[in-house]
Amino acid sequence: MRVLSGIQSSGEPHVGNYFGMMKPALDFQGKGEVFLFIANYHALTTVQNAEQLRKKTLDTALDFLACGLDPQKTVIYRQSDVPEVHELAWLLSIVTPMGLLERCHSYKDKIARGIPSNHGLFAYPVLMAADILAGQADVVPVGQDQKQHVEVTRDIAIKFNNQFGETFKIPAPLIKEEVAVVPGIDGQKMSKSYNNTIEIFTSQNELRKTVMRIVTDSKTVADKKDPDKCNVFALYKLFAPPDKCAQAADRYRNGGIGYGEVKKELAELIWQYFAQARARREQLQADPSGVERILREGAEKARQVIQTTLKKARIAVGLE
Ligand code: ADP
Ligand code: TRP
Repeated sequence: MRVLSGIQSSGEPHVGNYFGMMKPALDFQGKGEVFLFIANYHALTTVQNAEQLRKKTLDTALDFLACGLDPQKTVIYRQSDVPEVHELAWLLSIVTPMGLLERCHSYKDKIARGIPSNHGLFAYPVLMAADILAGQADVVPVGQDQKQHVEVTRDIAIKFNNQFGETFKIPAPLIKEEVAVVPGIDGQKMSKSYNNTIEIFTSQNELRKTVMRIVTDSKTVADKKDPDKCNVFALYKLFAPPDKCAQAADRYRNGGIGYGEVKKELAELIWQYFAQARARREQLQADPSGVERILREGAEKARQVIQTTLKKARIAVGLE
């Protein structure tokens, strides 16, 4: 079974990225064949500064490696080291109805947020389909917001296979219900676009400040509260062991716990949770050429699979 996912190199990794995509993908290490890549072509739709893009691309590799990606078990590569995906994207685009792309929420959201509409933004899901289908992925771990893109990928693959013969595996999204939409500090989906993230690799002071800003209602310590309606608790659940969660939930329901107390504990739990990743990131950062080597080796492995798929598709449509 091949597990494949990608993340844009467009910002600092946050708790939503970690639980929604990074951890579910990394949990497959040693169980399936894992391909993870840094979607720097996709990031170009928003990061249009060469220095920044280069830096963020390397940073994203560091983030994955720090969070436990083992290059002996997982193939990690830069999307741009496998330019074949663009040729495949073209072959897919000729079976992709305009309406399918026009219906994509992510595109509509971006336009609604004032991002100027351009062809890259519109064709974004076709390139994403190429990433997935080129890698002949079985499973694609993503957060809820990417579900539609994986469904579009499936539609495109089915259409292509029907028209030109069996060429692509039909992938399935893997969305873990409990972490499909991790809330941000304002209660909306955590997203760098909404400025509501808790970053994984921030300073302890910043982390505390961010956690203290999580929006709650105005109930007092003594008031009875519903833990399932509280943003602080939703995040607390991700980090606290089950017995502590159950205890806190009881105290919410019976009264006797204040949001300030839970926030302080949450900030500490998050800090501890990522302690190892932080230490590992520092080590890796001191050896950028080592990270570069890992990316090149990953690209070589991914490229073999991707070139084989592309050849199959070229033959299917009559380019060869
Ligand atoms: P952002 O919304 O911050 O721009 P990305 O679009 O770069 O995040 O997402 C990278 C991966 O992380 C995707 O698979 C996405 O579904 C997942 N993800 C992002 N935010 C969340 C969240 N709040 N909850 C669950 N998964 C998320
Ligand atoms: N669109 C994804 C995101 O914004 C990133 C991505 C690009 C991706 N290609 C992919 C994710 C292929 C999974 C599979 O998060």
